Amino acid sequence: MKISILGAAGSIGQALSLLLKLYLPKHYELLLYDIRPVINGITLDINHIPSDVEVRGFSGDNISSALINADIVIIAAGKPRKPGMKREDLFNINANIVINLTKQIALTSPNALIGIITNPINSTVVIAAEVLKQHGCYHKNKLFGITTLDIMRAKIFVSESKEKKLNNIHVPVIGGHSEKTILPLLSQIMDTNYNDKEIIKITERIQQAGSDVVNAKMGNGSATLSMGYAATCFCLSLVNALQGEENIVEFAYIEGDGKYAKFFVQPFILGKHGIQEHKNIGLLSIFEQTILDEIVHDINRDIFLGEDFVRKYFEKSNS
Ligand code: LMR
Repeated sequence: MKISILGAAGSIGQALSLLLKLYLPKHYELLLYDIRPVINGITLDINHIPSDVEVRGFSGDNISSALINADIVIIAAGKPRKPGMKREDLFNINANIVINLTKQIALTSPNALIGIITNPINSTVVIAAEVLKQHGCYHKNKLFGITTLDIMRAKIFVSESKEKKLNNIHVPVIGGHSEKTILPLLSQIMDTNYNDKEIIKITERIQQAGSDVVNAKMGNGSATLSMGYAATCFCLSLVNALQGEENIVEFAYIEGDGKYAKFFVQPFILGKHGIQEHKNIGLLSIFEQTILDEIVHDINRDIFLGEDFVRKYFEKSNS
């Protein structure tokens, strides 16, 4: 079994590669790709860690060697934001990166499960879907925008606010992965009650958490270690599903049942071929329902931007 990480020399890519080297089952092979040749040094470095997972590195034009027969591909490449920027401000820089990498996936490993970390996720996942469609290999059950970090943050902030043990907390987070579109469902946490003021405060803290890291890093990037860990957790769920484990429930930004928006962060059950079954988001409070009604417009706008960008890209390259 093979996992390819595209953009593996970046800070998220390195954290993800390190954790997968440690946690993947031993028959897995980890293929690291980056446009920059430094990936060869990173591969040498990581291979000095005793683990049975074999790691190989590829750079520059040699991307197909990093993708051949991949079961899972993670796109971690792209620029992070700086203080004062929103995730969508990265669109122009990162959209082309995602187009180029997805084209390579379509050519070399069209049946792989694909996870995308590159922001703005609300649009980059759509871009990848459109590129795969152009190549006749879009499998909507195999494409995921990784939003696990929102769930991790929600868990931690709820645990802090209620002094509860982390293990006993699960907070569903639906919608998208930008500001207000990140919608934690605090009303669904077992045995925990918040008053209205607390709900607003903790919801905003979860929505703002990415910006808080960006601001605290003062121009030196965004969340990398927690994002690397979050992507590892999601990746291991894919690995476990591929190995036949049943009833793995995950949340990600996917093309689901379309009830709220064509792409939407929602729960689903994983199987050997990706998403096996969509799950209902459950009952919402009035507060959550009001936010949901507002954010559907924003998510649809982000979806349109992604679709429109790819349409224009192919029109231009075909003319
Ligand atoms: C995050 O949530 O930390 C990432 O999406 C990175 C960012 O720009 O906030």
